[in-house]
Amino acid sequence: MSLQTAQLLDGKTLAQKIRTQLQSRVRSLQPQIGRPPGLAVLMVGDNPASAVYVRNKEKACQKIGIASFGKHFPAQTSAAELEEVIAELNQDERVDGILVQLPLPNHLDAVSLLHQIEPEKDADGLHPVNLGKLVRSEAGLRSCTPAGVMELLKEYNIPIEGKKAVVVGRSILVGKPLALMLLEKNATVIMAHSRTRYLGDVCREADILVAAVGKPELITAEMVKPGAVVIDVGINRREDSQGNSRLVGDVAFDSVAEVASYITPVPGGIGPMTVAMLLQNTVLSWEKKSKKI
Ligand SMILES: NC(=O)c1ccc[n+]([C@@H]2O[C@H](COP(=O)([O-])OP(=O)(O)OC[C@H]3O[C@@H](n4cnc5c(N)ncnc54)[C@H](OP(=O)(O)O)[C@@H]3O)[C@@H](O)[C@H]2O)c1
Repeated sequence: MSLQTAQLLDGKTLAQKIRTQLQSRVRSLQPQIGRPPGLAVLMVGDNPASAVYVRNKEKACQKIGIASFGKHFPAQTSAAELEEVIAELNQDERVDGILVQLPLPNHLDAVSLLHQIEPEKDADGLHPVNLGKLVRSEAGLRSCTPAGVMELLKEYNIPIEGKKAVVVGRSILVGKPLALMLLEKNATVIMAHSRTRYLGDVCREADILVAAVGKPELITAEMVKPGAVVIDVGINRREDSQGNSRLVGDVAFDSVAEVASYITPVPGGIGPMTVAMLLQNTVLSWEKKSKKI
């Protein structure tokens, strides 16, 4: 019997609500702008997980009326070829967002490709210009996963100002930008990582605890302050003894749900919010461009 007392932070439902709002924005503005928003997802190689993510993104685009300009390249594609494609997409008036699906094959450098994307079309919010704007608290395209976390906290009216937030994981994709976003909302932020000593003690201080690590069930109930808000960004595939695989987060959900006040499920938490924020960034770029015409 589950003793879960925490309320679920339902990312799936909120993501659906955001998609419906975006769909009506697209419908009402399209006649005026004269074309739909456009997103180009570039995938290189045949990573099966990436193929699923790309398909999901394209399906989500189709549902709300965003045109997809996705391209799939063979694993041996050179950096020069990809740079040329990105340069064309930067110039293409029909395209408002460009993203390179990670991971890339080893011979390609994700960072240098990212630099080629026009910051105004950087749907993933990872270009140094957009990250710089975040550091300065300026408006700009924000990285999708941390933006999704912030949106979910807002939806459930979770107070952030003055709260102690611990972010476990310091990647440029999730942990670092999220720490900046929490700081912008006046949390007292602690960043933890693989060299953090006494991780349990650090986590137990948190009013808001975020795990963005990639280690199944690293965060256990003993590491969580009673009543804390727990956000699980991790997505890990785990096989049971029968060989069936399922997704688990970085948080031991069942036991942590007995101590936390709020918790995100995996799946159905931050994953769908990330896709919703990608669509939102694309629609925002589209609206912004149309204002310049
Ligand atoms: N829900 C979504 O849409 C979404 C989006 C993106 C990522 N994710 C998931 O989120 C997780 C993290 O992704 P990422 O891209 O940020 O991963 P990453 O680049 O591998 O970064 C992992 C971070 O965790 C830290 N870490 C590793 N082991 C640790 C430990 N034992 N204790 C404390 N910290 C530890 C690392 O510290 P160091 O810096 O010291 O190495 C690093 O900062 C993954 O499971 C990924 O699949 C989900």
